[in-house]
Amino acid sequence: MRSLVLALVLATVAGCDRSETKKDPQPVTKPDDGQGSGSDAQRYKDEQAQFDRARRPDQIVTALGIGPGKRVADIGAGSGLLTVHLARAVLPDGKVVATDIDKAPLDLLSARIHNAGLDSVVEPRVVKENDPGLERGQYDAILLSQVDHYFDDPVAWLQAAAPALKPGGRLVITNRLYHRAAALDAAARAGLSRRSESTDVPGQFIAVFTVEKAK
Ligand SMILES: C[S@@+](CC[C@H](N)C(=O)[O-])C[C@H]1O[C@@H](n2cnc3c(N)ncnc32)[C@H](O)[C@@H]1O
Repeated sequence: MRSLVLALVLATVAGCDRSETKKDPQPVTKPDDGQGSGSDAQRYKDEQAQFDRARRPDQIVTALGIGPGKRVADIGAGSGLLTVHLARAVLPDGKVVATDIDKAPLDLLSARIHNAGLDSVVEPRVVKENDPGLERGQYDAILLSQVDHYFDDPVAWLQAAAPALKPGGRLVITNRLYHRAAALDAAARAGLSRRSESTDVPGQFIAVFTVEKAK
């Protein structure tokens, strides 16, 4: 409960990305305090609409190439504003593994996912900083959304994550444009091949990679 309150206070104060600390909290919905100050559902809806306008999750889902029955990892999922879109895309029998190094935003993610009726397809998972925490050869796609710039050693992290992809699986990196050069450089040095890229979303890039076949 205390970490939940702490995350909320931090989220309300921080807004996005001013300090770039590793544990930037996500803008979150204040749980209904039962004092009648508006319903959770309405707050989730408003927050989601604001996020969707700015971040265009539909374009990220397209880049991932996911659909019903697919298995996808959402790395550094935070409070799940993007995770809900991945979950809807893989319904009814797909799976989203939502990872984070911090349990507090994942608790909020669980509440948001529960509120959206998507519990059956989303598994929140607390992981270690330098370990993707994913099963080998099980994923159709892996998403890194606004998280790769926190990695101490992005090349090592990407090399550790690549074996989790199924043959032909996609690894998608999306972030703010000023993180683009470092992300593309790390991906190339990790042996990933860039398949496509879009900068249609203002201030963001969405790059699609696959694992280069061993020569
Ligand atoms: C800026 S938020 C991005 C949330 C969401 N992916 C999005 O695009 O809106 C970054 C999240 O990544 C988490 N994070 C930072 N380093 C991580 C790591 N090495 N592995 C997994 N999660 C990490 C942070 O705790 C935070 O919740």
